[in-house]
Amino acid sequence: MGKVRFGLIGCGKIADCNHIPEILSLGADEAEITAMYDIKPGKAEALAEKHKLSPKFCRSLEEILSLDIDAVMIATPNCFHYPQTIAALNAGKHVLVEKPMASRVEDADAMITLARRKKLVLQVNQSLRFIPLYATIKDLIDDGAIGKPLHARCLRTSVSSPDVGWSPGATWFVKKKYEGSLVTDIAVHMADVLQWYFGPVRKVQAITRNLLHEVPDNVTAMFDFANGATGVLELSWTFPSGYGALELYGDKGAIRMLPDGSGIELLPAGGKPGKVIKGDDLPKMPNSHACFVRGIREKATDNWAVGRGALALCMAIIEANAAGAAVKPKNRRSR
Ligand SMILES: NC(=O)c1ccc[n+]([C@@H]2O[C@H](COP(=O)([O-])OP(=O)(O)OC[C@H]3O[C@@H](n4cnc5c(N)ncnc54)[C@H](O)[C@@H]3O)[C@@H](O)[C@H]2O)c1
Repeated sequence: MGKVRFGLIGCGKIADCNHIPEILSLGADEAEITAMYDIKPGKAEALAEKHKLSPKFCRSLEEILSLDIDAVMIATPNCFHYPQTIAALNAGKHVLVEKPMASRVEDADAMITLARRKKLVLQVNQSLRFIPLYATIKDLIDDGAIGKPLHARCLRTSVSSPDVGWSPGATWFVKKKYEGSLVTDIAVHMADVLQWYFGPVRKVQAITRNLLHEVPDNVTAMFDFANGATGVLELSWTFPSGYGALELYGDKGAIRMLPDGSGIELLPAGGKPGKVIKGDDLPKMPNSHACFVRGIREKATDNWAVGRGALALCMAIIEANAAGAAVKPKNRRSR
């Protein structure tokens, strides 16, 4: 197989700062953006000009899926992930879909079943998994740097929702109809990271609030990990002042993300001096798109697994809030 020819569906903020740069980083012999489509006229053209791309511009989903391309990247609002993935798989294209994979675990399972039947690769762009600093925390924990995991704490608060800060005007992020929310936007990353570090979550308790929006914009969730550790996830789009913390505690030490996110501090037990590891000093690692292309070349069958696990946690947070009781995440039994 030569270079992988991609169609890009949805030409907004994440296409601009993640999908296009990551494809370009692979080199023209490995991957190419052959076609682009956005429902809003002019957006694909503007993004192509910015990144010096010369794709075919399409006027509909059907048109881009009818082209002789190998794969698509789906970077549209959440409510389109499921139907556009199903359409793309039915058209014989490998799919790299944005997180959240879908808005219901049943839809995610239908996507997986179809990908398996068609022998196509399905991957979810859980982008934190490909950031060296986050991967280094995983390696440290697996190497025993903090000993037996005891507790994880993650705080992510901001003064506004993404339609104000991240992608100005993208109001779908806070609309029920488009399946946006703080759970599907941020918990989908941070709950996934905590599960990556400490292993499966057996029960979730949660309180969500819709303070300024029609969807959850404040989330507090507690995780009961299968290994006996506990975890707390605190998220907000409405705090008066934003802040971030990621802390992993074990019986032999702790890891803390520096407040500005530029590095981590590894703290041995007993108050001994810590060691700082800066993100800029870490070697680069293959990005999400490199992983997807490798998956296509090697006929991978389970690249969807991380996204499916993250979605199960998100849905458990929503269900636990509604039930006022602990909920077991609906993890998929088999790959
Ligand atoms: N992996 C990450 O770190 C990360 C970060 C931010 C956003 N995201 C996800 O990426 C997706 C897009 O987010 P964004 O920030 O780029 O939003 P955005 O609003 O900036 O961009 C979405 C684009 O999709 C287009 N669009 C809307 N409906 C469409 C349709 N039916 N067909 C084709 N195009 C359509 C819009 O015109 C817009 O250009 C969301 O699912 C979001 O959750 C992922």
